[in-house]
Formats: sequence, structure tokens, C-alpha cells
Amino acid sequence: MNARPVSADTTWMGAVDWDRRLFDSLIPLPEGTSYNAYLVRGSEKTILIDTVDPAKVDVLMAQLDAVDHLDYLVAQHAEQDHSGSIPAVLARYPKAILVTNPKAKELLQEHLDIPDERFRTVADGETLSLGNKTLRFIYLPWVHWPETMGTYIEEDHILFSCDFLGSHRAQTGLFAERDVVMHGAKRYYAEIMMPFRSFVIKNLDKLAGTQVDMVCPSHGPVYKDPTFIMEAYREWAGGPPHNKVVIPFVSMHGSTLKMVDHLTAALADRGVDVERFDLTTADLGEVAMSLVDAATIVIGTPAVLTGPHPKTIEIAYLAGALRPKAQFVSIVGSFGWGQRIVDVLGGLIAPLKAVVLTPVLAKGDPRAADMQAIDVLADTIAAKHHEAGLR
Ligand code: FEO
Repeated sequence: MNARPVSADTTWMGAVDWDRRLFDSLIPLPEGTSYNAYLVRGSEKTILIDTVDPAKVDVLMAQLDAVDHLDYLVAQHAEQDHSGSIPAVLARYPKAILVTNPKAKELLQEHLDIPDERFRTVADGETLSLGNKTLRFIYLPWVHWPETMGTYIEEDHILFSCDFLGSHRAQTGLFAERDVVMHGAKRYYAEIMMPFRSFVIKNLDKLAGTQVDMVCPSHGPVYKDPTFIMEAYREWAGGPPHNKVVIPFVSMHGSTLKMVDHLTAALADRGVDVERFDLTTADLGEVAMSLVDAATIVIGTPAVLTGPHPKTIEIAYLAGALRPKAQFVSIVGSFGWGQRIVDVLGGLIAPLKAVVLTPVLAKGDPRAADMQAIDVLADTIAAKHHEAGLR
């Protein structure tokens, strides 16, 4: 893709990665992604904000063939998908100054061996004049790393938000269409931002006093009207959970599946929504999205030897790491002899700080008493959701 203007003096540069299917060798990217850099030309100075993943450095360097002179390069975030091509850009422009914050400088030097004399560090709220334009640097900690910051053009009301408010989406269009981008934006939030929910809210609050007419994120399309994505982030991070149970499960010989089926029907009968995922085929990103607004998580697992199925260990670990807003958790499943299912899964989901509802574990094929216990679990979940006023 060629460089294209997003406003009179700001140009999108960067790379659309149509083929990337995993981020951090973990997160599924069914819609690909993009690494966005932005060139801002002031009356006196020219600045490039961020670079691209080093795998796409040639794309950025070809776009920069049209840029004779660069005064500054801003590093908003030290993760490699934005910073990995900084050395190549600094080599192309030997007089360009790398502008970043002290924490990012430390990380960039650890990862990229950039010499000290190339840096200029900026404080939160510090400004930099490009002549007719003033850039203000706004620290946005923990969306995604502790050093992450945004950049704001005071005259144009454009916010370069780095990872914050982005989406993993490859597309030819430069601008976001709400109905098209929302699915990928929610997936991106679930996988990357959800562990930092409190910081999402703090950073939205921090930006509340700033007029933001356009958001240029480092991944995905540009928001010409960013209101909807900022409202969505506030709802995802701070809104109440929904009257919904997520059931990620594995069944090896059908016993756990019978229990999951029974629980699904029992919850539906009690007016509780259910989203269930067979972990042998599920897309982890879809599971993560479902966790964004679920009030309860029930993991279904058979015993493998004496522990839970490894795929449920993975999802329990992921849920503990992503820290969704679920208030209640439980486990259903089947075992043949001794089992440590509750011990193992319970430890992994402990970071959620959710109330643990009595698990239901059947020895072998679930009998009537086991299904009655599942009915009690469904009663409890429905009552808890009702007491919490969830809708
Ligand atoms: Fe897109 Fe945290 O890097």
C-alpha cells in the first residue's frame, strides 16, 4: 500500500499485513493487521510517528523515498511491531532525533541498541513545535505496555493513540466504518487491552478533557469520528457484565458433553444466555471476545490422568491472564479415578477474584444425581445474576 493523506498535513504510512495469522505467536488474527506510521509536516519541522514491524521495513522505506528530510521520529511504544524498524529509519536520516519518554528509551535501548545521543525524552504533557503545529505527548500507560504514549496535534485535534483503540484488521480503506470494524476492535480489546481494564478507564478519563476529532491508531483503520470506539471501550472495560455464561469445554468420551448440554439447557430455561466453545476447534480470540462481558465462566473438562484436559488448562490460564469482569466461576466434568481438576483449574482462574460456585464432577457417566447438581448450579447462577441486576 502507498502512503495516503488522512488530513491536510498528516499522511498514513506503514504496512498492511494481509497474511499474518498470529500475533505474539499466540493471538489469532483472522482479519490480518496493519502497522501504522504517520508523517506530520509542520511549517518548520517534519516528524514520523512510529515505524512498522521489521518484517515490513522495506514497505516503509519505499514510502519514505518521497521524504527528503526528517527532523524527528517519535517512538510511542517499544514493542517491536512499532519500534522494530527504528534503526533503519534513523540510519536513513542521520540527523533525525528519536523522541520518546524515559521508560520507552530504556526499553528501546535494551532491544535495539540505539545510541544515547539519538534520543530526546519528553515528559507527560510536554509539547514540541513543528512551526505551525504543536505536538503534545500524552502518556497512556498500560495500553499496552507501561511506557506507551500517544501524540496529539493541538491545532488539528488529531490523536495518535498507538495500540490504544486499535484493531487487528487489514483493509484497503483508510478509515473505519463502524459496522465493519467493531468485531475486530472487540477482539483486539479482548486479547490485548482487557488485562488492563482499569488503565483503559483511567486513560479514557485522561483524554476526556481533550477535543479529539480523529484517532489514528497504530493498528487498523483511522477513526474519523472516534466517539463510538471510545464509548465501546468504556462499556467493555467498565460497564456491568451481561446476564451471560461462557462455557469453554472439552469432552473426550461424551460424559462432559452431556453435562455441558444439560447446563446449557438449564441456564436457557432460567433466562440466562450461554455462549459455549468446544476447545478442540474453538478460535481463542472468539473465546476471549465472549469473556469481555460474561458474568460467569463455567469450564467443562474431563480428567486426563488425574488433572484437567490440557486445553482447559490453557483457557483457564488465559482467562486468569486476561482478567475479564466475570463475577462467578465454576467447573463441570467427568473423571475415572482420582482427580485434581478443581485444584489445578481453581489456581489458574484465581486471579479473576470471582466467587467460585460449587463444581459438579461426575465419576464416569453422569447420573441423575449429577444432573440434579447441575440444575442446582444453574439455579445458583440465575439467582446470582438476578441479584446483581444483570441484563
Ligand atoms: Fe502493537 Fe503493543 O504493540
